[in-house]
Amino acid sequence: MNDTITARAHSNIALIKYWGKRAHSNLNLPAVGSISVTLDALFTETSMSIDPTLTADRVTIDKRAAPEDFSRKVCAHLNLLRTMPEWHGTQAFTHVDTRNNFPTAAGLASSASGFAALTLAASHCLDLRSTKENALPSIQHLSQWARMGSGSAARSLLGGFVELHRGEKSDGSDCFAEPLATAAHWPLSMVIAISDARPKPVGSTRGMNLCAETSPYYRPWLENHPADLHEARSAILHKDFDRLSAVVEHSCMKMHACMMATTPALVYFQGPSIDAMHTVVSLRRSGVPVCFTMDAGPQLKALCTTAAADTVRTALSAIPGIRSVIVSALGNEAYITDSPSP
Ligand code: PMV
Repeated sequence: MNDTITARAHSNIALIKYWGKRAHSNLNLPAVGSISVTLDALFTETSMSIDPTLTADRVTIDKRAAPEDFSRKVCAHLNLLRTMPEWHGTQAFTHVDTRNNFPTAAGLASSASGFAALTLAASHCLDLRSTKENALPSIQHLSQWARMGSGSAARSLLGGFVELHRGEKSDGSDCFAEPLATAAHWPLSMVIAISDARPKPVGSTRGMNLCAETSPYYRPWLENHPADLHEARSAILHKDFDRLSAVVEHSCMKMHACMMATTPALVYFQGPSIDAMHTVVSLRRSGVPVCFTMDAGPQLKALCTTAAADTVRTALSAIPGIRSVIVSALGNEAYITDSPSP
């Protein structure tokens, strides 16, 4: 066996949402761009080593055999990386061990940090290089490749405030994430209120496809989106929390309206999620700089100034049905580490 490579990638939460895929593509190309923040407190660490004795990649989670569907997704992503046109690397099989520092079954998006860490670890472990110049992949290449595993994973390669471009090209070469601003530019916090730890009833890919096929609000969602991206970019650049709050909640509610108008309806909100939304709005009315967002699950995520994080945590923790609350600062880009967590 050769050396073990370990990559760490942080999770991210979209402020301006990605919902919908471009048709006729097997490259997982988003129909809209998105803007996210990378979270310091939540990360995936993935270790990989070449094992010449293996006849297939072996996948473990925290050194225990991974469930079959999980292994299948990891192996498919590695095979995709091994067979990319214009790139070459070792064809030998690997042992992949991955772990999250946050509860995996708690309804928190782990596919973003997971596919980002896997892509970064694999690019080193498989020694992926371009066939033309033998060059190593850039962060833009890694972001494109992570995107093929999960759209939101493209953003987890980067830190702070991140934009994933929709791109126009059918080969996906202009669809990658780029930094908008560093975490230090505007040190905000994300407070995550966990109400239901069960897996979501309809996963995001199926939800997006159903929504595109049946929701009458899907087209308006696509048409309105560029204005939200523009407003969020400007609010982040000028550190204008009021403007950012307005567009973050607007993007979230438009996405959920679009989901709810799908046949069959996609309703990810639960009672505690709605109570938490009202709590956030009343905190804001009382002068606390905070706004909410929610993804394809019931957990409410509250973005606030770091000074307000304790107040927001206390208020969300007091809501019946909220089981736990995680507070995170903004985090940095994915990296290779010599000192994996014990
Ligand atoms: O990357 P996916 O396939 O898990 O989709 C993410 C979709 C949302 O979380 C709802 C929005 C987003 O931009 O992260």
